[in-house]
Amino acid sequence: MTSAFNIPDLIRKKRDGAEHSRAELEGLVLGYTRGEVPDYQISAWLMAVYLRGMTPRETADLTLVMAGSGDELNLGDLPRTVDKHSTGGVGDKTSLILTPMLAALGLTVAKMSGRGLAHTGGTIDKLESFPGWTPELPEERFLAQARGIGLALVGQSKDLAPADGKLYALRDVTATVDCLPLIASSIMSKKLASGAHTVVLDVKVGAGAFMRTLEDGRALARAMVDIGTRASRLVRAVLTDMDAPLGRMAGNSLEVQEAIATLRGEGPEDLTELCVALAVEALAAYGEDEAQAETRARATLRDSSALERFRAFIVAQGGEGTLVDHPERLDVAPGRAEVVAPASGFVERIDALSVGRAVLVLGGGRERKGEAIDHGVGVELLKKPGEAVAAGEAVLRLYHRDGRGLETARALLEEGLSVTARAPEAQPLILDRVN
Ligand code: URA
Repeated sequence: MTSAFNIPDLIRKKRDGAEHSRAELEGLVLGYTRGEVPDYQISAWLMAVYLRGMTPRETADLTLVMAGSGDELNLGDLPRTVDKHSTGGVGDKTSLILTPMLAALGLTVAKMSGRGLAHTGGTIDKLESFPGWTPELPEERFLAQARGIGLALVGQSKDLAPADGKLYALRDVTATVDCLPLIASSIMSKKLASGAHTVVLDVKVGAGAFMRTLEDGRALARAMVDIGTRASRLVRAVLTDMDAPLGRMAGNSLEVQEAIATLRGEGPEDLTELCVALAVEALAAYGEDEAQAETRARATLRDSSALERFRAFIVAQGGEGTLVDHPERLDVAPGRAEVVAPASGFVERIDALSVGRAVLVLGGGRERKGEAIDHGVGVELLKKPGEAVAAGEAVLRLYHRDGRGLETARALLEEGLSVTARAPEAQPLILDRVN
């Protein structure tokens, strides 16, 4: 062991609730990343952090140590750079709509995105619904494209914040994922290493999210905004409801079709409103008046300027531009089945977690890293919570391939659906903002 620190002393220190110095965090985290500190010691330390927590100063230092553990992207003199992150949801295709909106609004999005994780979808998987589209660009081309059309989007590089990659894998198997300072530092280390000056966060709250309560969501948002401030970045967070899926489509190609409809100004209201709200946060971070920002953001969905950026971006990364104009030609699985209302009344609940899991078992997500997925399967919400239904009327449509996973998916959806006699109170989509 070459670390200057005695690792058991550091584990003991956190176990007893004390605060680490930056140098101690470097000893632990960089020592682990270099392979000098073994898994079993970091596992014990992670559990001590889980049980004892971290101060805001400590969380910010941990983030900076992880951000500096590998390559850091230099976005150099790209104008008004902005990144966006969602803490993970079902039917959440906002990045596909928001990023070309931001480019059309004069901001620059040079961004890394992830693949689906468990029941939540990932932007890269959705974009791969376009045959030929690639998430791999050499750095020079990535930066040139961002400068040219304001939008370039690639897969997560494993050289960026490698400490997070190693720690995340260990947290996954030591029951230490759902720990606020560890989640906040994990997300923000990747955002800091990706180089954008401004970051807009969409913190999901509810049944289909990591954060189940508004209180937990607020605490996570505050922690991430605080980290950004300490690292001289502008970070703004919006807390949004993830009890039910966003929009009406869940599943890769289906979500791309819905995103294109939204870019044409014909999208579902909740999805459109969220994209406009996130665009306003990004423009407001650069000092724009919020009312003016909202008017400009809405205009990009009416005048096709966001749609044109999206087409240019798909083509620049090898996809077929004609599919943007004819999204009905994207591969959608031919099998259809429906889940019907068990009684007449109003849809009370369409559980986002059940819908996410249904897409997964139909083949639209991965059980294991690296597995191939079926972009064409998914679930459509024919009714949204709050809408009236008659007994026996279809509420959810499944798109399946040769019946794969169909019965399990149907059972999941039936379990996640409830109908009530009285109209439920409307739930706002945007629950709070932190900046
Ligand atoms: N997403 C991340 O990147 N890290 C976490 O710890 C949780 C969600």
